[in-house]
Amino acid sequence: MKTKLLKANEDSIKLACELLKKGEVVGVPTETVYGLAGDSTSSSAIKKIFEAKGRPADNPLIVHIASIDMLDGIVCEFNEDAGKLASAFWPGPLTIIMPKGKKICNETSAGLDSVGVRMPSNEIARAIISKSGIAFSAPSANLSGKPSPTTAKDVYVDMKGRIPLIIDGGECDAGVESTVISVLEKTPVILRPGIITKEDIEKVLNKNVLLAKEVTAGVTDESKVLSPGMKYKHYAPNAKVTIIKSSLEDFIGFINSHKTENTFVMCFDGEEKLMPVPAMSYGNISDPKSQAHNLFSILRELDETDAEQVFVRCPDMTGISLAVYNRLIRSAGFNIIEI
Ligand code: TXA
Ligand code: MG
Repeated sequence: MKTKLLKANEDSIKLACELLKKGEVVGVPTETVYGLAGDSTSSSAIKKIFEAKGRPADNPLIVHIASIDMLDGIVCEFNEDAGKLASAFWPGPLTIIMPKGKKICNETSAGLDSVGVRMPSNEIARAIISKSGIAFSAPSANLSGKPSPTTAKDVYVDMKGRIPLIIDGGECDAGVESTVISVLEKTPVILRPGIITKEDIEKVLNKNVLLAKEVTAGVTDESKVLSPGMKYKHYAPNAKVTIIKSSLEDFIGFINSHKTENTFVMCFDGEEKLMPVPAMSYGNISDPKSQAHNLFSILRELDETDAEQVFVRCPDMTGISLAVYNRLIRSAGFNIIEI
């Protein structure tokens, strides 16, 4: 299959809509990361997404809508917490897990009786949904296990020959995927941290919410996992990644005693020149949004070097940094050293 990579404009958006209506899969920009979009009601379209990504069939997809009235048939219940969250954060990077409606095919929800829904704020994604009338399911547009794509070129690298069209809408704003929250129980649970934080959510709901323990740890009991995506290897570059929780001074000491010929470092802005090996900054130490924005592109850049071993300065585990930490520990296969 030939893969077209087209700049977003009226014609390319029209083509994307036509392909979606025909049950094809299209690479689309969102404000978080690029997605692989397919009609959420069509089993055959969704099967193509799983095939293109090489994604395990038990990992459900998020449904993207452009207006609240599209929820009809997508979910069968929209409770008070969901309503408050939607009015505060939609359009935007928040996915709400709700009881699944009749329209959603089993492949989208991977057989679960719940479904994740979000209303993206990216104008191109919104135009594609409203012009096609299709609420599309879209996982991140990477090959399963690889870092999520934040540019159309990243999507092209992974999806060339696998899908007919990628719409280029420039670099994604956030750089990490949406916050995922389940409102199925009385106390909502954050299943994946993102730019919208636990604190932001608690303020809107005026109550405490839980953070699934897998957010900051590996999966210990697969049978109890709330979100199937938590148990899979993720975001990994080719090199072996290790996170070092330490002061800057101890980090440099550690690198000096552990460096080999193909050791690289991921650090914060301004620290590069202090490092005894090639170093890439993934953002400002006191600006977690910048870390989130750059994280996946730096992990992908590593694959263009001869890095075999990468040591990473550890971000905070609070606020937006928690989203960065959550992705990094997965890219490191939970390989963390504390000094
Ligand atoms: O920002 C985003 O959310 C991006 C863009 C493209 O919108 N999409 C995205 O999709 O990150 P994906 O498939 O890469 O991640 C979806 C996550 C997975 O971890 C999946 O297990 C979880 O959401 N998920 C989806 N539906 C669920 C459900 N019904 N119950 C629990 N977890 C669910
Ligand atoms: Mg993903």
